[in-house]
Amino acid sequence: MDRKTFIRNGTIATAGTILGAPSILRAGQKLDKTVRIGFVGTGLRGRNHVNNILDLDGVECPAFCDIDPEAVKLTNGIFKEKGKEAPKVYSAHERSFEEMLENEDLDGVIVATNWKWHSPICLKAMEEGVYVGTEVSGAFSVDECWDLVNTHQETGTHLMFLENVCYRRDVMAVLNMVRDDVFGELLHFRGGYLHDLRAIKFNDGDGGLAYGEESYGEARWRTNHSKHRNADLYPTHGLGPIGVMADMNRGNRLTSISSFATKSRSLKNYIDKHPDGGEDHPYSKINWELGDIVTSTITTARGETIILTHDTNTPRPYSLGFRVQGVDGLTDFDYYSRRVYVEGTSDPHRWDKAQEWFDKYDHHLWEKYGEIARGGGHGGMDYFLDRAFVESVRQELPPVLDVYDGAVLRAITPLSEVSIQNGGAPQAIPDFTEGKWISRKPVFGLGNL
Ligand SMILES: NC(=O)c1ccc[n+]([C@@H]2O[C@H](COP(=O)([O-])OP(=O)(O)OC[C@H]3O[C@@H](n4cnc5c(N)ncnc54)[C@H](O)[C@@H]3O)[C@@H](O)[C@H]2O)c1
Repeated sequence: MDRKTFIRNGTIATAGTILGAPSILRAGQKLDKTVRIGFVGTGLRGRNHVNNILDLDGVECPAFCDIDPEAVKLTNGIFKEKGKEAPKVYSAHERSFEEMLENEDLDGVIVATNWKWHSPICLKAMEEGVYVGTEVSGAFSVDECWDLVNTHQETGTHLMFLENVCYRRDVMAVLNMVRDDVFGELLHFRGGYLHDLRAIKFNDGDGGLAYGEESYGEARWRTNHSKHRNADLYPTHGLGPIGVMADMNRGNRLTSISSFATKSRSLKNYIDKHPDGGEDHPYSKINWELGDIVTSTITTARGETIILTHDTNTPRPYSLGFRVQGVDGLTDFDYYSRRVYVEGTSDPHRWDKAQEWFDKYDHHLWEKYGEIARGGGHGGMDYFLDRAFVESVRQELPPVLDVYDGAVLRAITPLSEVSIQNGGAPQAIPDFTEGKWISRKPVFGLGNL
């Protein structure tokens, strides 16, 4: 009986014993097994995963699903270019992923569609016993996050939350510094998603001003969220790495969130100044719900605070704006500027340049796989992410970023939305682990994944 059939037939009764334990097989039992990985959603991001995963050893990719003929063509092109067998394509309609998950004997599947479909596909994959890796997003509701957790518990099938920034080299070095107690007992974190997405939100594929069905890439769906929702729409690139450093769901947990939004000006400003736009353009009349800068304060059970920022409408260079601060020192770090201050080591009141610290605390995964990772996308971090997913599937290990992490990170969006609607009123963040956070141990970055 293969694993998928086993899960379908019998594991619901034993899900309680599977939860939190190293799954059906013990680690290392299937190191040589070839795994069969499928994909749902092969747009820009999905193709990035296809590229990486086709290059890994011991992987077959028999099928993928996308409803956009252009995405199908480009994805097939990747298989051809790499000399791989042509995959079966499921593309008839928005629910074709169901047929793929029912008919193909997949061990794992990567979900990289627009946000609306993440949960339905993850739920179906878990029901079919297919280990699922899901791209990042905010949820539409807290209930949706509970559905993911409950389905994982009922089926025993794992969900890996594919937050690639956790694998960024500087992020992993700072994680090592945290674990080596360089900053002392932790007090405070900052992070966020500060990325000028205006040219992505309005994009006809040729520099023109368009969003919705007739547009290109994420403008087809992402822009609508800015129109209808005032919330931290993309919390996970900032909060995922902070969550790992703060032992989220593993000895600590996020307890409450209060969110505030500025007025919304910058999308209209962009439209008014765009060569195809102007004040008479219909888009200029739209009442964009999303405040230009959304700021949330999150509290933790251990008494830390986290300031999380979402800023995707303003003109600005890219930043995730990280700060990690403890009783003995802190670091502010970004792609463009990095600094560290540690009392007793740094000159008093003066920042150290961070690179020496980051070199000293370089993570063992980067030391080992840094060269191979180079071509893997986003400075190499995507290689680590896809490798961790494939190896977790192969060895049937619980993921290092799991369904509980995904549920908390995704719940930030609806909770911030309600908080903003209520003048910043604190919203309780559910304990999706139902108390298990107290005894669960940190795993991310401690082993080989
Ligand atoms: N982690 C990162 O660094 C990173 C970077 C970019 C995007 N993302 C995330 O990846 C996801 C995809 O983003 P993208 O930029 O590739 O968007 P995209 O619009 O380029 O691609 C989405 C693809 O999903 C397909 N799709 C939509 N509904 C489908 C369905 N029901 N069945 C099958 N296919 C379907 C579309 O046809 C499209 O090809 C989003 O969640 C986004 O936030 C993450």
